[in-house]
Amino acid sequence: MTDPVMQRTEREDFQATSDPALQESADRGEVNLLGYEELYNLWERQQWSTQDLDFTQDKVDWHERISPEERYQRMYGLSSFFIGEQKVAEELGPMMRAAPTEEMRIFLCTQIADEARHVRFFNRFYDEVGVLESDNLQDRLAETSAHLNPQFNVLFDEHLASRVDRLARKPEDLETLVEAVTLYHMIIEGMLALTGQHFITEYNEQQGTLPGFVDGFTKIARDEHRHVAFGARFLRDMAQADTRYRDAIQRTLVESGPAADGVLTPPWYDEDEEPEVFGYTMEETKAFAMKCLERRLKVIGLAPAAA
Ligand SMILES: [Fe+2]
Ligand SMILES: [Fe+2]
Repeated sequence: MTDPVMQRTEREDFQATSDPALQESADRGEVNLLGYEELYNLWERQQWSTQDLDFTQDKVDWHERISPEERYQRMYGLSSFFIGEQKVAEELGPMMRAAPTEEMRIFLCTQIADEARHVRFFNRFYDEVGVLESDNLQDRLAETSAHLNPQFNVLFDEHLASRVDRLARKPEDLETLVEAVTLYHMIIEGMLALTGQHFITEYNEQQGTLPGFVDGFTKIARDEHRHVAFGARFLRDMAQADTRYRDAIQRTLVESGPAADGVLTPPWYDEDEEPEVFGYTMEETKAFAMKCLERRLKVIGLAPAAA
């Protein structure tokens, strides 16, 4: 397989975020991570609007060019993103309040705005393309949730929500914040969302489908790289400050591993037949996710760097 990490990811605006997954030097543990104020400044420069996107051709593609079976298969990815964006938008408030410095809190405020924009993106796509029967955000979220797999709820509702609830009660609990950022920025955004985005975007580009979606989804990916770059910076700072936080990162990665692995597998996937999912095997998809995680961990200082 060609190294998919190195293709789309060479875009200048993605590179500008300093997300370690996008940089070969991360294999040696060497990346110049942006500071919190630089990440904020980048946010100001990388603004975009869901209202500028045009879904006219997407509507034609969805109803006339994509078969009912493929529409059904695509619903897992779409639903995971739509509901995932809504859940992360709502969990970020207590994490923002618990961040130990003003610079971190200000960056996390920008991220809350980004996640709200991502929810609006999916809501507009569903609405204008006519993906579901429901005609409002609340009902669409409920209707699309039928396409999720159980591991998705374990990861978001058990692993993430339990930590965020603890933070809401005890904002001074930095160890829990480290666990929450590991789950949120490293696992959910870094390993799962950006992997899904990579393969879904590539598939649409190959098929020549959903141009409005691809346009917005690429802008979402740029936001996510910036969020993950914050996570890498924060976890590196914390890991360097105290081995207790280092242990917390490692413990969280191990604990959430099985659920994260499950989220990458669509509920309709047949383990015995091992079909390709939108042009790639599950093994290739997971190898991409692991490569990205490994690079970020090396830069945080948690995985042995290659010579
Ligand atoms: Fe997002
Ligand atoms: Fe995000």
